Amino acid sequence: MRNCVNPGPLPFGAADKKEKTMEKKKFYITTPIYYPSDKLHIGHTYCTVATDAMARYKRLAGYDVMFLTGTDEHGQKIEQKANEAGVSPKEFVDRIVEGPQGVKDLWKLMNISNDRFIRTTDDYHVAAVQRIFKKMYDNGDIYKGAYKGKYCTPCESFWTESQLVDGCCPDCGRPVVDAEEEAYFFRLSKYADRIRDLLENTDFLQPRSRVNEMVKNFIDPGLEDLCVSRTSFTWGVPVDFDPGHVVYVWVDALFNYATAMGYLNDAYGDYDHYWPADYHFVGKEIVRFHSIIWPAMLMSVGEPLPKHVFGHGWLLLDGGKMSKSKGNVVDPYILAEKFGVDALRFFLMRTFPFGSDGNFSNELLIQTINTDLANDLGNLVSRTTAMVGKYFGGQLPEGCRTWDAPENFDTDLIAMVSALRDTYETQMEACAPHNALAEVFKVIQRANKYIDETAPWALAKDMEANGKRLAHVLYNLLEATRVCGILLIPFMPESMEKLFRQIGAGAEAQTWDSAKVWGTLPETTAVVKGENLFPRIDMDKALEELEAAAEAAKKAALPAIELEPQLTEKVDFDTFCKSDFRAVKVKACENVKKSEKLLRFTLDDGTGTDRQILSGIAKWYKPEDLVGKTLVAIVNLPPRKMMGHESNGMLISAVHTEKGEEKLNLIMVDDCIPAGAKLC
Ligand code: ME8
Ligand code: MG
Repeated sequence: MRNCVNPGPLPFGAADKKEKTMEKKKFYITTPIYYPSDKLHIGHTYCTVATDAMARYKRLAGYDVMFLTGTDEHGQKIEQKANEAGVSPKEFVDRIVEGPQGVKDLWKLMNISNDRFIRTTDDYHVAAVQRIFKKMYDNGDIYKGAYKGKYCTPCESFWTESQLVDGCCPDCGRPVVDAEEEAYFFRLSKYADRIRDLLENTDFLQPRSRVNEMVKNFIDPGLEDLCVSRTSFTWGVPVDFDPGHVVYVWVDALFNYATAMGYLNDAYGDYDHYWPADYHFVGKEIVRFHSIIWPAMLMSVGEPLPKHVFGHGWLLLDGGKMSKSKGNVVDPYILAEKFGVDALRFFLMRTFPFGSDGNFSNELLIQTINTDLANDLGNLVSRTTAMVGKYFGGQLPEGCRTWDAPENFDTDLIAMVSALRDTYETQMEACAPHNALAEVFKVIQRANKYIDETAPWALAKDMEANGKRLAHVLYNLLEATRVCGILLIPFMPESMEKLFRQIGAGAEAQTWDSAKVWGTLPETTAVVKGENLFPRIDMDKALEELEAAAEAAKKAALPAIELEPQLTEKVDFDTFCKSDFRAVKVKACENVKKSEKLLRFTLDDGTGTDRQILSGIAKWYKPEDLVGKTLVAIVNLPPRKMMGHESNGMLISAVHTEKGEEKLNLIMVDDCIPAGAKLC
């Protein structure tokens, strides 16, 4: 036991011996695996940073941690995106997963400490998913039937009529399409009672509010069997015993948590050690998959269930969910470059209660950095180290740890610091990192107040009389800073390394155990006033710069296009007015037989008689995608014969060249414009 003041009832003094002799307990935590369909944004970063903070906290606390993340690379959406980009699906995902500013690159930037990374296109995973599918087929839980339903293509989700909101996908609000196909089904209904019991009577799903959502929306109305194979596209894990079918992407994706540990494959051998997972951290819109479908499938294959699923909230922008398709995404690269990775990580965890939605704004980010990091923490460190430098040449004298007649504020500070690790631990165990950080910052604020109460500059006026007291005050401040620093490691690992260097805390003074041992720091340790850990940010200037950076990024993301030179010869107005442009609606459209280029349009031009136009755009459009659209045509061109069909007019398109390739977009106008309307 260390020689310290006034031990009284305080919990400091010795590390819990039992903790040290206990075997390391395992802790297996996962993030969702991301869709590499677009660049990731700050919302994705939020989820992974939270998981990383939790994983780092558990490692700090002495656990044997496995932290898994990865990418979910199959499905119709990826296939479509790859087609649009003119590359194979694998090439497409490779670029987003491995390429510059790709998924792996972003996690490296954000200092994510995952122990493993799974790609669902990895061979071992694909083979394992085939075995899993067969296993459920053999045990009777997967059977063949016909699927009719409403399908949301962007979300890759089938919905029942009753689940639709205003006829649209309940997740993303976009229109759904009628879909029917021969398909395999999973007997989800069979597991309804066990899932209800799991949700209602255990702490499997957190926070508790999510349980009511799941039970009310999905269990109470009656769980239906789930369609688990597709035949309408090929980019997925093939059902090996029935060619033409690919495994539903969610079945493929959910099992990543098990296959990445070696379930039904030889690539890894620690499934028995780490499974079941302790926590799946997931966003609220995928809680349904993780808390209903996932446990039911595990029950089917006879594997233990994960201990907890935690459904966190969304980061919102102007009140709506960030999404690339809505164009309201925030780029983590820009923010990290401007404010530093640790400040960004800290902001995400400190500001938004983990189970709820939160409104992201640049103002809030800068405010948090200025208040918590620059003012409270940064000032505590810089004032304390500066005073040790100024009054003691950077090294406190022997004996500074103890003081015979402590003031109330000495006792108060020491008591708060000594109790901090336990309150922090309680909050972290409850998956409330925002509360854990609030506890740490209460102590940091207390320590700053202690500086005002003890007025070291006044003590320094008479070093002979007050030097020993001054040294003790500064030692207490270093200790308070050290303990807070330890508990901030999971959130700001790099900055805390710098902090420890500045206050002279070596490895033994950075441990979880030592966070409970007041007086760990050697009395005469060398303190150095280093760089300012968190410089204050000029709000107005930073906001302006962020705006400019966002504009520049938007521009850079646009493809470089080669424009046709503009014509210089003038056309007189009367001649121009002779061209009759009209809105026309597509009633029917088909490929012209034996022609690779031509589409044949049957158009409503408002006259009551159908108009036929042929257009050489088959390379860019599927006929079925154009039916119902309102286009622009010039209708007074002389008729022309093409491949035996008469064409009466011409459809107007925008054309440009991109990377040497010709691109074409038909001009489409708003549906409220009636067929036949004259365009002038
Ligand atoms: O859902 N705020 O992948 P994903 C908070 N492949 N979290 C957000 C967010 C926001 N604005 N936007 C996205 C998938 N997320 C599946 C997972 S797991 C077997 C398969 C979160 O890339 C989202 O909630 O669409 C989800 O948890 C994660 O980012 C990945 O989303
Ligand atoms: Mg999603």
